[in-house]
Amino acid sequence: MPKVGIVLGTGLGELATQITERQEIPYGEIPNFPISTVEGHSGKLIIGKLGDTKVLAMQGRFHFYEGYSMKEVTFPVRVMKELGVETLLLSNAAGGMNPDFKIGELMIIKDHINLFPEHPLRGKNYDELGTRFPDMCKAYDPQLRDKAKAIAAKYGIRIKEGVYVGTQGPTFETPAEYKFFATIGGDAVGMSTVPEVIVAVHAGIKVFAMSIITDLGVDGKVVEVSHEEVQRVANSVQPNMTKIMMELISE
Ligand code: HPA
Repeated sequence: MPKVGIVLGTGLGELATQITERQEIPYGEIPNFPISTVEGHSGKLIIGKLGDTKVLAMQGRFHFYEGYSMKEVTFPVRVMKELGVETLLLSNAAGGMNPDFKIGELMIIKDHINLFPEHPLRGKNYDELGTRFPDMCKAYDPQLRDKAKAIAAKYGIRIKEGVYVGTQGPTFETPAEYKFFATIGGDAVGMSTVPEVIVAVHAGIKVFAMSIITDLGVDGKVVEVSHEEVQRVANSVQPNMTKIMMELISE
């Protein structure tokens, strides 16, 4: 069984095509799995190999804004844990608040601020999975982050590191909200990742996550944004994201 799990968010569609010796299981065939609804996110589990490494990849993730509960959004991470996954890689698209960021840049997530209105660990704690009050000091594994930075440097890929603010969406932010998120310490904002990361960390899974900065929420430079524009920018940066993830997996 694979020890590496991947949530193929925005910008990692191409990685899925490189999985060899693959078996695909549509979400609809897995008991209790939610079904993905958003355009551009098809839903299936792919089990196979990336290079020499066995991986379990989720093509299509579940977003809180689609109407799923946090338990549903994070259920696949629990399944991965049961199957033996020890390291989880995730990607997403995000709006950048940091004035040093440019559209189309990659950001390694070093920390997050959870602003979702429901907590994935609320309710009964499963002690066999993890503790009631999980520590979140090193949610994003420092060693994996260092490795990713070294890989980016080797290929001359410009990469930033920053704090991801997780919000429920589905609205993009107002200029005042972008300013607020920057003020509280955020570098980028998006509508995913945080719930899955919390459930992974609770269960002792190591996490690495990267954002594609698809638009800017920098005071005075706020650009209009649409789902189509987010997809377009993400596709253009996809090769760099794929390269870093591929090499990180092989290391
Ligand atoms: N805000 C929230 N989510 C996003 C953004 C944004 O600006 N860009 C891509 N996903």
